[in-house]
Amino acid sequence: PVDLYGSARKNSTGVDLSIAADRERLTAAVADLDFLTSRPIVAAKETGTGASTPRLSPGARKQTIGQAWDASAWDIGQAFAAGKAAQPAWDARGGHGRALILRAMADALEAHRDRMIAICTVEAGKTYADGAAEVREAADFCRYYAHLAERQFSGPETLKGPVGEVNQLSLHGRGVFACISPWNFPLAIFTGQIAAALAAGNAVVAKPAEQTPLIAAEAVRLFHQAGLPADVLHLLPGDGAVVGAAIVAHAACAGVAFTGGTDTAWAINRTLAARPGPIVPFIAETGGLNAMFVDTTALREQVIDDVINSAFGSAGQRCSALRILFAPRETADQLIEGLAGAMDALVLGDPADPHTDIGPVIDEDARAVLEAHLARLTTEAKVLRRMTAPDTGVFFAPTLAEIPSSAFLQKEVFGPVLHVVRYDAARLDEAAGPLAAAGYGLTLGIHSRIEGFADQVRAAVPAGNTYVNRSMIGAVVGVQPFGGEGLSGTGPKAGGPNALLRYAVERAVSVNI
Ligand code: SER
Repeated sequence: PVDLYGSARKNSTGVDLSIAADRERLTAAVADLDFLTSRPIVAAKETGTGASTPRLSPGARKQTIGQAWDASAWDIGQAFAAGKAAQPAWDARGGHGRALILRAMADALEAHRDRMIAICTVEAGKTYADGAAEVREAADFCRYYAHLAERQFSGPETLKGPVGEVNQLSLHGRGVFACISPWNFPLAIFTGQIAAALAAGNAVVAKPAEQTPLIAAEAVRLFHQAGLPADVLHLLPGDGAVVGAAIVAHAACAGVAFTGGTDTAWAINRTLAARPGPIVPFIAETGGLNAMFVDTTALREQVIDDVINSAFGSAGQRCSALRILFAPRETADQLIEGLAGAMDALVLGDPADPHTDIGPVIDEDARAVLEAHLARLTTEAKVLRRMTAPDTGVFFAPTLAEIPSSAFLQKEVFGPVLHVVRYDAARLDEAAGPLAAAGYGLTLGIHSRIEGFADQVRAAVPAGNTYVNRSMIGAVVGVQPFGGEGLSGTGPKAGGPNALLRYAVERAVSVNI
């Protein structure tokens, strides 16, 4: 059998923040950062004739860390033209040839690890631990997709057929793929989408989130330094409604990989449906209304650890994050008390301080949405505990609230807010009904010592990734292929054995000999 999981492949080791020297190196890397710039990068040349904006750090709002230029219509046209011309030669290198470059990129990310973590910290407000996880996952995506490219894209497979005929099937890139990525994993998902599209033989135009163009520019520079041909990858930063929309509407756009909000996914889907020209695939990974179901057999300390980590880790700004905790009526009070106590022990603050557990949210808009939600929780539900937020940056104090039923939430709330619902585990369907009806299907947590209960929950709540008796964030490439269904996305799963196929066309050739 073909080894698509890559047993011989090793994931990146990351950084051990319990070692003082490692922490000090990161503090030095933040202090060493120059004034950062992000310009459109077309054929490895940094352009930038359009509008530019100063970039402020979410953790220290007074600190201007760089300047970012938006892509112009001219940049977009040039990038597609160059990508289209270069793609056949890139495809012709085959899986082995492309894997060499992806592995060189993984090595380059690790060689520049401290700087990349430092940029994630100042630009996206990531703690060092989260920044280190970004670099590790980005490198893992490159190596994993290199592995898949070698196995799935290395020349034709000969199929069984009649005597006197040779039948072969091969996979190829589609053309210029658009990769549109989010701010919450500004390096890992940005790099992962690009690595998948490149591995499958496509040229790429990459549109990073408006909030995180600086780390994206740094990653594109590294791709080119790692030996990627200049015309095969282009960076087109800017507003989603302007630059993103123009990319998706472009006649040479041969497919879209998008990670972000469900509303934007609908908008992209509509644009793709309305434009003339080729019919192309749309790969979307969007939001979730993620729940964890706990029963009375669960181990309380473990539940508390896993809930705190899943709901408040990365300031709740993960699509996988826990939003609704279903606590059994019998033990709900103890669980809530334990959670409140654990919140008191967390450190909310400067992401560039190695002792910080939770950093800021990404920007004022994100915080305003959370403040509006808090106002609703205060009047229509019950706020149980809040941490205290510093006023140096865009902080939103992690919040624990009780809601009467999951019907209270129909849409994802993106940030550190954990909603608790008291429920009767014997009447699971009643509790899970409104959740399933909301239509998402991303992550699901279960804490129980009874296997039959876990099976019941899985049957009642659709989810792409289910985690039993552990935390429900931090899917590992090649280990927990990640992605949802329904309102949460189309698949294929990132970091899984089927990841590359939708980026490709299949060509069959039959020769009568
Ligand atoms: N892959 C991330 C996680 O599992 C979310 O995007 O937490």
